[in-house]
Amino acid sequence: MTDLGERAAALDAADPLAGFRDRFALPEGVTYLDGNSLGALPRETAGRVARTVQAEWGEGLIRSWNSAGWIEAPARLGAKVARLIGAGADEVVVADSTSANLFKLLSAALDLDARHRVILSEPGNFPTDLYVAQGLAATRPGVEVRTLPRDGIVAAAGPDTVLLLTHVHYKTGERFDMAAVTRAARDRGSVVVWDLSHSVGAVELDLAGAGAELAVGCGYKYLNGGPGAPAFLYAARDIQPRLRSPLTGWMGHAAPFAFGDDYAPAPGIARFLCGTPPILGMAALEAGLDLFLEAARAAGSAALWAKSARLCELFIEAVETGSPEPMLVSPRDATARGSHVSFAHPQAHAVVQALIERGIIGDFRAPDVMRFGFAPLYNTHAEAVAAGEAVADVLASGTWDEPRFHQRAAVT
Ligand SMILES: Cc1ncc(COP(=O)(O)O)c(C=O)c1O
Repeated sequence: MTDLGERAAALDAADPLAGFRDRFALPEGVTYLDGNSLGALPRETAGRVARTVQAEWGEGLIRSWNSAGWIEAPARLGAKVARLIGAGADEVVVADSTSANLFKLLSAALDLDARHRVILSEPGNFPTDLYVAQGLAATRPGVEVRTLPRDGIVAAAGPDTVLLLTHVHYKTGERFDMAAVTRAARDRGSVVVWDLSHSVGAVELDLAGAGAELAVGCGYKYLNGGPGAPAFLYAARDIQPRLRSPLTGWMGHAAPFAFGDDYAPAPGIARFLCGTPPILGMAALEAGLDLFLEAARAAGSAALWAKSARLCELFIEAVETGSPEPMLVSPRDATARGSHVSFAHPQAHAVVQALIERGIIGDFRAPDVMRFGFAPLYNTHAEAVAAGEAVADVLASGTWDEPRFHQRAAVT
């Protein structure tokens, strides 16, 4: 075993989270490093969903809206997410997709101040963030979307600006200092909408401590909610009364079952609900959230975030020890990084395909980035080292150059 391998084995032996790996149904022989894109399946999920289908839906039928707590699911799950992001239980709701929640919050943020006429983001932000902003701006004469490189972005914000920032960049893994950026933005009279999709369940978050006002995030990545899991939306308690959702569906009404003709927003965060919550998706997401909260209780959440950082560090060291070729795109400093690591290489797509054939699943992001996500609940230190050594080996051996590794599928 290499020195690095021995270090990893010692870290695994002392890992207070080690027992949680078995709580996931990971296939034999697979090293799963794509939990930043689609989290792994908790063993509990299949039973939980089956119960929701058979007992709650099959037996309970429509009574389950009350008796099985379906109607409270958006708030109940929101309160669970809140514990992972440093928010109050009444500041988060689970609903819709991240994209739809972005639309709702960006619209509400624009309406917060009559001077708002610019949505400012960075080039290369996750596409849906930019597309949603563009779509919203198209419905608002006088509102435009601008992008600026992150170094200058806060300095360019002012009272006319809504900032749209992804806390951990989906490709590079760069992490904004949420507290510093929020403070600077607020000092300039601006408001920030944070996208936490690559942060929640990956790194420490303290939205209240950071003074964050608005945020959205994804349920199917590190929260292990399953493909297309519902997303979440956060709004700080004190500004909730001033926020108006543009999607004024009945579930966000103050009294949905009064069936009145005129819309009146629900008090608080519930005003951001729109239509009927997807209960089967909620059941799967709740299983993922419960497991995460159990781990945070058992080991302490600091242990989770420290493990994320260590897994990334070991992986970087293993790649760089074995090969001079790939260029690290992610920050070396763990406090400036999320829980995924990206390397650039001209043959990144083929290298990722060759790794997948060896059972190491990462992903490719155009044009030249290979991306590896590390989930503190189920990845081991030994896996991080072995995967890093495999990246180096694929490059050194040139196996990536076999024709089958050059074929591109629809989803990379
Ligand atoms: C930063 C970011 N925002 C949003 C999303 C996805 O949004 P949605 O839930 O609408 O698919 C992703 C998906 O990878 C993402 O990386």
